[in-house]
Amino acid sequence: MDTAPLDAGAPTHPTPSTPEETARYIVAQAIWAPSVHNTQPWWFSAEGLRVSLYADAGRRLAVADPDGREMMISCGAALFTLRLALRSLGYIPQTRVLPDPAQPMLVAHVSWSERAAAADFEKRLCSQVRRRRTHRGGFDPVPLSPPLLAALSEGAARDGATLRIISDGGQRAVLAAAVDAAEQAISLDSTRVQELVMWASPPGSPRRDGVPSTSYSKRAEHTDPDFPGRDFAHRLGWGNPPLSSARSPRIAGVVGLLCTADDRPADWVNAGQALQRLLLTASMCGVAAALHSQPLEVPWLRELIQDKLGGGHPQLLLRLGAVIQTEASVRREPGEVLR
Ligand SMILES: Cc1cc2nc3c(=O)[nH]c(=O)nc-3n(C[C@H](O)[C@H](O)[C@H](O)COP(=O)(O)O)c2cc1C
Repeated sequence: MDTAPLDAGAPTHPTPSTPEETARYIVAQAIWAPSVHNTQPWWFSAEGLRVSLYADAGRRLAVADPDGREMMISCGAALFTLRLALRSLGYIPQTRVLPDPAQPMLVAHVSWSERAAAADFEKRLCSQVRRRRTHRGGFDPVPLSPPLLAALSEGAARDGATLRIISDGGQRAVLAAAVDAAEQAISLDSTRVQELVMWASPPGSPRRDGVPSTSYSKRAEHTDPDFPGRDFAHRLGWGNPPLSSARSPRIAGVVGLLCTADDRPADWVNAGQALQRLLLTASMCGVAAALHSQPLEVPWLRELIQDKLGGGHPQLLLRLGAVIQTEASVRREPGEVLR
């Protein structure tokens, strides 16, 4: 893996020297991976020079994610971060994804025994783990560089996924309409709304999981085409105040669809690894991402997207762009998830 630590801005830490310290350090990084509704659907166990990552089925979205697809994408993102953190310490991670068919919740074993100095690129990538934040809203009207987009696509391929950049206006409009239709369908389904309410915290909540009101803006930003965000605020006016009262024109940004050739748990884990590589690479270049999984949680919309756009099984829809970020997020303590 060409990906490790931590330059200015990352929290300072004593270099771990024992296997236990190494396990604690890499888990403390992995928990900053993105996860659907910040469910953090994972737990870890450590034994010698090996950490095992498990999906926590109790944190799966039973209504929105009955097959655990998004849970596995989230775990894949944590797996990539675990590997990257090992590289940052100069270890070569050895990874076995879904190693035991009898234990479908065992996502991966990651072990380390050999060393190779971390490349500068890997260190810079790892320095983004705690800085990266999901963006919700529009982007500044600044074009993204073609070499960056090419690097993101190449990175996704390395993890067994495909990043399709959707630049055709008609296809962008199809995807925006699918997000809108999904938002409407979700808002009319009381079980879905209740599930979202469970994972969206009110202002001042001490919770260390779920989507805090500090992670989105009070004022929904519309773009053309418009990709509506999730209604985490339940129309109660929660969220960060706008940066300024002036409404600067915002754009939807570069639209991308992360796809896989197949649609099995291993593909979902791959998609998650590709997602985190992509998000950290973008973040390293000052580019943020907004994630939209709403239409992929509605089976007929997911099929429609696959039919209209082709290119494999859609796993995540995202938008990329430049923006000053104000979002904050929360995580449970590493000690809670390292058993
Ligand atoms: C599979 C998956 C689906 C997601 N879907 C959405 C989404 O539809 N809307 C959204 O605002 N964020 C979405 N997110 C982002 C999470 O809400 C976010 O990662 C989490 O709240 C933690 O915040 P952070 O990414 O800023 O650390 C998704 C993340 C993952 C991994």
